[in-house]
Amino acid sequence: MAYEMILAEIQGRVGVITLNRPKALNALCDQLMTELGEALRAYDADPAVGAIVVTGSEKAFAAGADIKEMKDRDFPAVYFDDFIGKRWEDVLRIQKPVIAAVAGFALGGGCELAMMCDLILAADNAKFGQPEINLGIIPGAGGSQRLTRAIGKSKAMEMILTARMMDAAEAERANLVARVVPVADLLPEALKMGEKIASLSAPSVAMAKEAVNAAFETTLTDGVRLERRLFHSLFATEDQKEGMAAFAEKRKPAFRHR
Ligand code: HXC
Repeated sequence: MAYEMILAEIQGRVGVITLNRPKALNALCDQLMTELGEALRAYDADPAVGAIVVTGSEKAFAAGADIKEMKDRDFPAVYFDDFIGKRWEDVLRIQKPVIAAVAGFALGGGCELAMMCDLILAADNAKFGQPEINLGIIPGAGGSQRLTRAIGKSKAMEMILTARMMDAAEAERANLVARVVPVADLLPEALKMGEKIASLSAPSVAMAKEAVNAAFETTLTDGVRLERRLFHSLFATEDQKEGMAAFAEKRKPAFRHR
């Protein structure tokens, strides 16, 4: 399908989705979120793609949900539209790893979208924030929950109650992001990470992601049980045989992704 507010391109074995509404600093309007969901699902279903990168511009990953689109909505409009649930959570249903490559502003829904991805790679000019309180609302796409789990209560409270932004260095110290790289290296580094993941056995990659994400949803006992069952199930794959045989034979594995 033809997209208007995102760019979607496969580079190597990585599906790259670029949020592309520069005049509005990639504000996340309904159309953009619908297009993002479609692109994510298309790459998830495409065997040529082994990992997905979601990125924005140097100036903004995304400056939040589209305030101008939201401002006149009333309670029934947001409630019956299932605002957020309907369009915003597609990324949570993707089986392939999704890397958020964040430069510039990641504010409000932009920060929440990045946190819904599997990991965040940040440029040194990245700025994270949940400034919804300035608008008379609160985070609505999981920010109060995911930010708190990522950086702890005091920092999350401060950011959500005062709208203070966090720069990339602080975000790295606070464990919000995996790594910080110079802004010019952001996409190359994200692609390198995506290629590495895409070169591995797809079932083990998907199950590793599923297991780590379960840590946010379950007790330790249930999470470890899930991990063990997934671990056992990988012994039913050809790639496990190949991976271990290759090690024993001192050669590179040729994964068949099955
Ligand atoms: C709609 C937005 C926007 C947004 C920026 N723009 N953010 N439009 N929604 N969230 C538009 C501006 O109106 C302006 O358009 C253009 O983008 C450039 O923005 P400027 O403000 O002129 O740029 P700058 O001075 O560099 O300031 C950058 C900024 C500021 C600090 C990021 O734009 C800002 O504070 N934006 C809002 C951030 C925010 O509150 N986000 C949370 C939204 S609520 P024009 O046409 O005027 O030139 C949210 C709720 C999530 O995300 C809940 C779940 C869905």
